[in-house]
Amino acid sequence: MKTILTGLRPTGNLHLGHYFGACVNYLKLQDQYDFYLEIADVQGLTDNFDNPEKVRKNVREITTDLLAIGLDPNKVHFFVQSRIPEIAELTVFYSNLVTVSRLRRNPTVKAEIAQKKELFGNDGESISYGFLGYPVSQAADITCFNGELVPAGEDQMPLIEQCREIVRKFNSIYGDTLKETSILLSDNKRIKGLDGNDKMGKSLGNAIYLVDTEEEISKKVMGALTDTNKIRRDDKANPEKCMVYYYHKLVNTEENVNKVCGECKKGERGCVQCKKELIEAMNKFLSDFRTRRKVYEENPSLVDEILNQGTQIAKKVAKEQIKNVKKAMMLDYND
Ligand code: TRP
Repeated sequence: MKTILTGLRPTGNLHLGHYFGACVNYLKLQDQYDFYLEIADVQGLTDNFDNPEKVRKNVREITTDLLAIGLDPNKVHFFVQSRIPEIAELTVFYSNLVTVSRLRRNPTVKAEIAQKKELFGNDGESISYGFLGYPVSQAADITCFNGELVPAGEDQMPLIEQCREIVRKFNSIYGDTLKETSILLSDNKRIKGLDGNDKMGKSLGNAIYLVDTEEEISKKVMGALTDTNKIRRDDKANPEKCMVYYYHKLVNTEENVNKVCGECKKGERGCVQCKKELIEAMNKFLSDFRTRRKVYEENPSLVDEILNQGTQIAKKVAKEQIKNVKKAMMLDYND
């Protein structure tokens, strides 16, 4: 079985964007690969260093979400990044193999700097050493476990490329030690937000979370963007301009979706009715998630135990790998 590794920053609960963009894919992968799933708290701190409570709280939150979508802890090794000190060691070793200008040119890092002007200044002049270097740390995440494939979205491509460069450079200097990794691109699309924005995101305030209650779902769906040309019930509208239709397509049956589309175009359904039907479909869609999540919520020690077990497995692999790396780098002392 090939080894795959992916990570998530514990900075908030999972929303539909995570679910359809990445997590549905994990459900299939867990049956096909030896799957390491890292809760990347150290990476989460790179832009939340002043809010450790948030990162700590979300380690358990996001793990609970991942279990509740149906990931099986017997198949997936859930582990916490900060609990594997070897990752930090590797990060230091790899930091010699990458230039600052290469990091600054990394498109993912560049995009994030632009988004975080408040934290890093207009041109990224106040960027921290840690944030700029997080691709190096991510290369350590992956290579620490010999991750052959990294399931991730397109936005992660530059980070995986950077990891491959580090691996090649390491191997060429210190001898063949690290496995080259590849991205396992999910064919899932980017999910739009309630406001019609191309991206659903926490910072954009347009997300539907898997943990949202029925009341929260109702409120959000009632406020979702619809075709602004449709004012009266019998106005003909364009469902492609409507977020309610967009989410119907994600969570409703094909038959219902066709009905919604046909009636909307002909001016045979009002938006309120359409939203109410979406709320119902959304609650149905979330029903298994809620049932599973409740078990873990009532028993948080179950989640902690799953993290402990996965972390113990990860620790063993990491200890082996750091030995290989230190030997290659002539840092193998018998302490
Ligand atoms: N950078 C990823 C994100 O922001 C999270 C992550 C951390 C990751 N370590 C990883 C992804 C290793 C893939 C592999 O979503």
